[in-house]
Amino acid sequence: MKKAIKLFAIISFAAFAGTFLATSGSTQTQTVTAGQKFKSIKVLNDMPADQLGKVMNLMTASLGVQCKYCHASNDADFEKEGFEHKDAARAMLKMVFDINKNYFEGRPEVTCNTCHRAQGHPQAALNLYPAPPEPRPAQPATKPVTADILAKFAAAIGTGDVKSRKITAQRIEPDGKTTEAEEILQSGSKIRVNTTYPTVVVSEVFDGTKARKFTDAGPIDLTADESEQIKREALIFGSADLKSIYTKMDYRFADKIDGRDVYLVQATTADNSRDRLYFDAQTGLLVRRMSTVFTVVGPFVYQFDYADYKDFGGVKIPTTYKVAVPNIRWTRKIVDVKINAPVEDKNF
Ligand code: HEC
Ligand code: HEC
Repeated sequence: MKKAIKLFAIISFAAFAGTFLATSGSTQTQTVTAGQKFKSIKVLNDMPADQLGKVMNLMTASLGVQCKYCHASNDADFEKEGFEHKDAARAMLKMVFDINKNYFEGRPEVTCNTCHRAQGHPQAALNLYPAPPEPRPAQPATKPVTADILAKFAAAIGTGDVKSRKITAQRIEPDGKTTEAEEILQSGSKIRVNTTYPTVVVSEVFDGTKARKFTDAGPIDLTADESEQIKREALIFGSADLKSIYTKMDYRFADKIDGRDVYLVQATTADNSRDRLYFDAQTGLLVRRMSTVFTVVGPFVYQFDYADYKDFGGVKIPTTYKVAVPNIRWTRKIVDVKINAPVEDKNF
């Protein structure tokens, strides 16, 4: 049972394997609605079907619960009815849509998290000893220039002659104890990550153009934005070439992450999606990337943290890598790196 939950937690990131495998292979039509694709939808009928996974993960994280708080289990029978919390959530969804429509001109300002903050019952009484809000750190006397930040990053990463890497890593789950072995094969901007779970190996590939994810049993559908995130991570990890991803980058302000000074650069892609890139002010290294996708119940944020950079063959890579999205978090620790080891193209 535990294994099944585990597997579900992994693939829920890429939507729900069971439900989706049947339709996978079909093109990613944005126009399919949740009402058309799922069996028992009463409120989210008109929402694009590919938002459903994100909305479920957002609701789950906002309430600080698991799927089975509203459903029969954590990994199956999501269409089943007769659950008090599922019905309560439907009423709450309607309330949230009404509030945003009537008071915020339809903008998704109020979300589940606005009230719930990771608890089932939002707190009504005021906290009489609230923690003081964190002040924004002092800004540098002279405004940093974006081009300098990018040049410092490139110099910090290094210019060694690294064409390929064979990496052994460990994926650490949020409990800090459960780990999975990972093998990472990388050649230029192409990358393949094989993660070995107790009963299945999940492979995630970026072939230089497109991303895909699969197991022995077949493909796992990726939404357009999930593919895009895999691509961006591959390009950043493979070549640290930010210019191949973003057409525009602008310094915004100085901030702090874990007590260290960082510079925030807003990075915009050709199709106008925006990321936040945080560079360590001292080392010049990229320490965080954040990307936001909007759903009917508000923003779904991807956060990637890059830490413990180490030099392998004249090029630095982060040996600790953290991924967080609503309801899903994990950390990758790199254990061993073989540079310029032969990596065959058939892997991609
Ligand atoms: C706070 C309650 C709540 C939580 C937590 C929740 N769901 Fe849901 N889920 C719903 C509601 C409500 C619906 C039906 C939406 C509607 O009627 O428009 C639904 C529908 C679904 C469906 C569509 C089923 C069908 O075929 O009709 C799937 C799949 C699903 N949820 C998966 C999940 C997963 C996976 C999780 C955990 C990551 C999760 N849900 C967590 C409330 C919840
Ligand atoms: C405006 C504030 C607010 C927002 C926004 C909000 N909720 Fe609630 N929610 C509440 C309050 C207050 C309660 C507790 C009501 C009670 O105790 O009877 C509650 C209760 C619930 C419950 C029932 C808990 C229980 O134990 O009975 C569920 C499930 C729930 N909310 C889901 C959601 C979801 C999902 C969203 C987003 C779609 C959401 N809520 C958005 C205020 C809010």
